[in-house]
Amino acid sequence: MAELKIRNLTKGFDGLEIIKGIDLDIRDREFVVFVGPSGCGKSTLLRLIAGLEDVSGGQIELDGRDITDLPPAARDLAMVFQTYALYPHMSVRRNLSFALELARADKQEIARKVEDAARILELGPLLERKPRQLSGGQRQRVAIGRAIVRNPRIFLFDEPLSNLDAALRVQMRLELARLHQELKATMIYVTHDQVEAMTLADKVVVLNGGRIEQVGSPMTLYHSPANMFVAAFIGTPRMGFLKGRVGAVNADGCAVEVDAGCRLVLPLGGAALAVGDPVTLGIRPEHLNRSETGPCLMEVTADVSERLGSDTYCHVRTDSGEPLTVRIRGDFSPRYGERLRLSLDVDHCHLFDRDGQAIGQPLQQVA
Ligand SMILES: Nc1ncnc2c1ncn2[C@@H]1O[C@H](COP(=O)(O)OP(=O)(O)OP(=O)(O)O)[C@@H](O)[C@H]1O
Ligand SMILES: [Mg+2]
Repeated sequence: MAELKIRNLTKGFDGLEIIKGIDLDIRDREFVVFVGPSGCGKSTLLRLIAGLEDVSGGQIELDGRDITDLPPAARDLAMVFQTYALYPHMSVRRNLSFALELARADKQEIARKVEDAARILELGPLLERKPRQLSGGQRQRVAIGRAIVRNPRIFLFDEPLSNLDAALRVQMRLELARLHQELKATMIYVTHDQVEAMTLADKVVVLNGGRIEQVGSPMTLYHSPANMFVAAFIGTPRMGFLKGRVGAVNADGCAVEVDAGCRLVLPLGGAALAVGDPVTLGIRPEHLNRSETGPCLMEVTADVSERLGSDTYCHVRTDSGEPLTVRIRGDFSPRYGERLRLSLDVDHCHLFDRDGQAIGQPLQQVA
């Protein structure tokens, strides 16, 4: 069992508050990812959980026991960092066993744990090598192996893949997902890469400026972002935003007049909106289509396009000067400056109030 409860956790450095009151529950065997922009406090939060930093306020409970003031070694957690810092003069085998030797574990027990970790991480043929004889990905696997042999209650990862090249990151990402299945362990993983967050997590915690913006499954964050920050942060290319006003309100919904030149009818979802209220419409690149006909058409001007073969990301500008990205299946390359007509998929539009908070999720078209 490894269940973590975090209550009203705060942390300041030199009088400056960095973690501003975090409440979070992490269930046994869950893969939780902390994601957010650089400097938002992801590593600090992880280090508070690990006991590498003292809290300024609040409480951390592991399986019902208050561990807030316990030293790191007494917490039964293992951390894997971005810089894996293996012992260069020791073999892979010795790197894996060293912590257990220090803890005076039984020799046979150590050998068994090292063999187990080597099997899980496919390090068997590399056990007698020194770290300098390994690739970056192999070194990172040894660093993870050092955590595995300790059989921790929770694994803590701080951007473990960010020193690897793009192809290796994808491979290691899959290996971590497999590792989580195999070990059935609770894992907390920090990244600023939202693709890693989406692909690995059972639960994503989006942090911003030391606060939680939203906690949810990857699909909850994608389909029902609570606010514009999460909406813009999750999904690549990112969601486009169009300013507008409420044109009409009735019992079933509201009409939004978008400055870029279209009118949409959306349900209110119980929100208190009045005619004339400023709103922002959010639309993802995959929910915009090139179209000549349809109810929600908008004319835009093509900027540059990114042609990936399978898809083209076409960057455009609306007549009100707002940038949008459109995903077009296959290869399509409009001329720079060409006029295009786009239809908005109203079933997938998001609406935000003047404070950037989502209004009525999920939205469905009424007319
Ligand atoms: N020991 C420290 N003393 C003072 N300020 C610190 C200390 N550690 C972190 N900070 C500050 O706290 C804030 C959050 O830092 P943190 O390392 O948690 O960010 P992060 O979300 O992990 O960012 P990144 O994605 O760049 O790793 C930053 O503004 C940082 O400068
Ligand atoms: Mg960090």
